[in-house]
Amino acid sequence: MNATPAARLNEVVAFAPATVGNVGVGFDILGHTVRAVGDRVRIRRSAQPGVRILAITGCEASLPLEAEKNTAGMALVSMTQALGLEFGMELTIEKGIPLGSGLGGSAASAVAAVVAANALLDEPLSKLELLKFAMQGEAVASGSVHVDNIAPSLFGGLVLTVGIDHPRTKQIPVPPSVRCVLVHPHMFLSTREARRILRKTVDLSDVVWQTANLAGFISGCYTNDLPMIRDAFEDVIIEPQRAQLIPGFKAVKQAAMSNRALGCSISGAGPTIFAWCEDAYAEGIRAAMVEAFAEHNLASDHWISAIDAEGARVVEA
Ligand code: HSE
Repeated sequence: MNATPAARLNEVVAFAPATVGNVGVGFDILGHTVRAVGDRVRIRRSAQPGVRILAITGCEASLPLEAEKNTAGMALVSMTQALGLEFGMELTIEKGIPLGSGLGGSAASAVAAVVAANALLDEPLSKLELLKFAMQGEAVASGSVHVDNIAPSLFGGLVLTVGIDHPRTKQIPVPPSVRCVLVHPHMFLSTREARRILRKTVDLSDVVWQTANLAGFISGCYTNDLPMIRDAFEDVIIEPQRAQLIPGFKAVKQAAMSNRALGCSISGAGPTIFAWCEDAYAEGIRAAMVEAFAEHNLASDHWISAIDAEGARVVEA
């Protein structure tokens, strides 16, 4: 006897969390989820093939409605073309992540879109396959393909990604007492611009130093070794070049470190600054960082998040 086919879904909503990526020492390859905020994408199946964005809500600046120019739209265009889908998709995007904040907003929209679309397929794809389509979306926003926001937003937790054409991901355990304090000053930074200013060559001694820090950071996470995480938590390549883009960066970092943070750096392309710390110090670090930004005439939003937040998921079907 044939099994009854599952009913086809017509409308799905997916949520994808914000992310910190880079986590300091892992430029373009290491990121983690943030529990507090995220983007939602609603997709309706349509008889007319193609991808159409009906509306984008939750942000003041306008984002492109043309599918090929929008991160969520482009992720779905690449998915639709690769799979030869005969049905079309109409989507609405609800931005929960501030634009140009360094919290992985473009990645979250792309990830929520592919996760929602996946629920409409007769034969859903694996997360690793979805990752490749979401990467095409992220490239529209930043001008380059990178995975340190996409991968954690999709899989959840602290995620390392190796490879671009055939990416492999690894969820890395984090000591349970660790929290991430995030302070987002009210200013906009373009990811494209923050990437454009980076030098294209790096001194060998800095590569050695950064490689040791990344290895130490990850081994500290695996072995619950907070002193190792603290000693390795120093981005010697990217942070020194981008710090000038964020007014008060030095003071905010100093505020976090003098209140017992394990480390502090720029979240993604900025301007959000994040600090890892033990749970007991999180509130004090947050207050000190917010005050340091205020002294530079910048009001801010701020969150304290565990690192192990769940990745993207369907929230309505
Ligand atoms: N890894 C990226 C960067 C994140 O730092 O430029 C921003 O999309």
